[in-house]
Amino acid sequence: MYLTQEEERIYNGEKGEAQAIAIRLLVSIGEINGAEQLIPIKSAHISGVSYKNIGDGGLKFLKKIADKVKVPTTLNPLGFDLERNGPVEVDRDFREKQLEIIRTFISMGIKESFTCTPYYFYQQPKYGDHVAWAESSALIYANAILGARTNREGGPSALAAAIIGKTPNFGLHLDNNRIADYEVAVDGRLDYSGAAALGLYLGANYPGKIPRLVGVDYLRDFELKAFGAAIAASSSTSMFHVENRTPDDILNRGRKFEKVVVDYNELKNLMEEKSSHEKPELIAIGCPHLSKDEIDYIASLVRGKKKDKEVEVFLFASRETIKNSSESIKIIEDFGAKVFADTCMVVAPLSKKYHKTAINSGKASFYLPMKEYGGQEIIFRNFNDLLRWAVIDN
Ligand code: F3S
Repeated sequence: MYLTQEEERIYNGEKGEAQAIAIRLLVSIGEINGAEQLIPIKSAHISGVSYKNIGDGGLKFLKKIADKVKVPTTLNPLGFDLERNGPVEVDRDFREKQLEIIRTFISMGIKESFTCTPYYFYQQPKYGDHVAWAESSALIYANAILGARTNREGGPSALAAAIIGKTPNFGLHLDNNRIADYEVAVDGRLDYSGAAALGLYLGANYPGKIPRLVGVDYLRDFELKAFGAAIAASSSTSMFHVENRTPDDILNRGRKFEKVVVDYNELKNLMEEKSSHEKPELIAIGCPHLSKDEIDYIASLVRGKKKDKEVEVFLFASRETIKNSSESIKIIEDFGAKVFADTCMVVAPLSKKYHKTAINSGKASFYLPMKEYGGQEIIFRNFNDLLRWAVIDN
């Protein structure tokens, strides 16, 4: 890989050990993937923030690589809400280690965003911007909906890119690799969880391929967010298009694609197969983190109603989104639901207390049943069904 004189100095350790580790990691990744050079990035987003995910080994690596970042950088959710200390209590050791991780990130100049939706209030890349984002749901949103360019970074490579301000130029940074592989139509009208189920279905059946969705331009951004999160969780796909809607669909013009038609009933069956028939102990909403529009919508549905005491309702969003939705949050809290920032239903150790969780998220339906995430029984339904369990006077 070609390195500038400045990059070589960093590589040789003249700017300190942390920068040397960072650039060597980027160069190794670039060489394995055939990149010819490093290119400047506009921002980075780091995953692997929760102590539950990175453990002592991750904390040790973090301290070794800790140096000031060169571009605006945000952080994914961690194991608990820093102000509420919930949704489930964590023990003192977990809390201490988590706070140590946070202090290390802050010392590097990284924003305390703690969200997988940094694009709502913390940083919104523009069309064509090169960025280095980890967190599969965020990076697919950046690629597909915002038209930014990022590979599927891991926590360490996104951090290394933030420290150097550059990333190796390969994969989804190049237009040719962003073109669709196949076209998908759905025989039925999708809602939020239907879009999420479609993501799971395509991830399982066409792993790593880039779909172009046709005939679904009615889907709102937060429904496409659900689709993207699900396909990126269930496969290595990190990009998609929606005909006449997403900015890089321009790359598909005049091309012919293999056509796939998905029967809506197949998506319903998939949700059913994943679901337990037990009554949930918990309804968890906000994977990925909720937008202000979603919070306003939920508030409109629960306004003036009361929650069934036998089921908890937890919502997850970023602290800035919550701050900017204060009226709706009050309505939701008056209803009896709890709204958490900084954390999420997957990285918080929910299974310490809850074992049957109802969700409308394809990504959560993929992770929560896994042993490492507590082996939860899940109930995967659309939002209105979830609400039917929670509201007592509807
Ligand atoms: Fe976000 Fe956590 Fe889901 S990071 S996408 S809410 S698993």
